[in-house]
Amino acid sequence: MASHRPLAFVTGGSSGIGLELAKQFAQNGFDVAITASSDKVHEAARALRDLGVEAYPHRADAGTYEGVESFWTFVEGLGRPVEAAALNVGIGRGGAFLDNALEDEFRLIAINITGTVHLAKRVVQHMVPNKRGRILITSSISATQPTPYETVYGPSKAFGFMFAESLREELRGTGVTVTALLPGATDSRFHKNAGMATSAIDNGKKNDKIEVARQGFEALMNDVDHVVGGDEETKQQVVENRRTPEPVKARRHAELTRLRE
Ligand SMILES: NC(=O)c1ccc[n+]([C@@H]2O[C@H](COP(=O)([O-])OP(=O)(O)OC[C@H]3O[C@@H](n4cnc5c(N)ncnc54)[C@H](OP(=O)(O)O)[C@@H]3O)[C@@H](O)[C@H]2O)c1
Repeated sequence: MASHRPLAFVTGGSSGIGLELAKQFAQNGFDVAITASSDKVHEAARALRDLGVEAYPHRADAGTYEGVESFWTFVEGLGRPVEAAALNVGIGRGGAFLDNALEDEFRLIAINITGTVHLAKRVVQHMVPNKRGRILITSSISATQPTPYETVYGPSKAFGFMFAESLREELRGTGVTVTALLPGATDSRFHKNAGMATSAIDNGKKNDKIEVARQGFEALMNDVDHVVGGDEETKQQVVENRRTPEPVKARRHAELTRLRE
């Protein structure tokens, strides 16, 4: 029998914050389509089905035009309106800008910026005629400060934050809402995947990914423009960032991200 549950999707939904966001949707009665670049996406879909909903996994590279199109074609093929879209996939890249390979920086931009704009275009053109839908964009508290030794990453997240806020205003009155999630450092494999295993940030205190995802889900459902994901200290850091000069924040962040011998 066809499902009568609303449909959500989550990119980067096989692990970390994305999988927890997908679980939030499932626990709140959504069927969920998820995408990631490896076969882990199928295992994640099984975990979501255990929560009593339909889960639709799709493997595609979020850093290529074809990969983004292939996920959107997959979602459209489900033949149901998308009620909620979590544009969550993102990668980091630690190390000095002087040394990092240009192709790695371009790949980060392709996933974090180009891919987000690409999928958002498809989603907005789908939701606005339906006069309903909710869009969640995972940014970062890195959007509120310079991020030396992640010099391309932070600005890519600043793009995501202001993209979300801009789109939100454009879509006001259409029935489609946009919310940005700004997590602080969170317990996933993100920093290790970014080559930052020897940095202070990867070895310091991190926020609980379940709590971060819960805060993002609630903000999305309550039509809040953005939410900082994490504990009180993380939220206070963003308040403080708003009144701290950029060079001071840059020096502080460099201490957290510089790789150690
Ligand atoms: N963790 C943090 O401290 C933190 C803080 C602030 C913001 N964020 C943001 O939160 C979001 C999620 O990060 P996370 O911490 O959950 O990271 P994560 O644990 O590394 O998860 C990343 C997810 O994206 C998928 N992915 C990676 N490259 C992909 C590609 N080329 N194509 C398709 N899928 C791909 C991964 O699956 P596969 O490996 O199977 O592809 C995985 O599902 C990102 O946008 C990140 O910028 C994270």
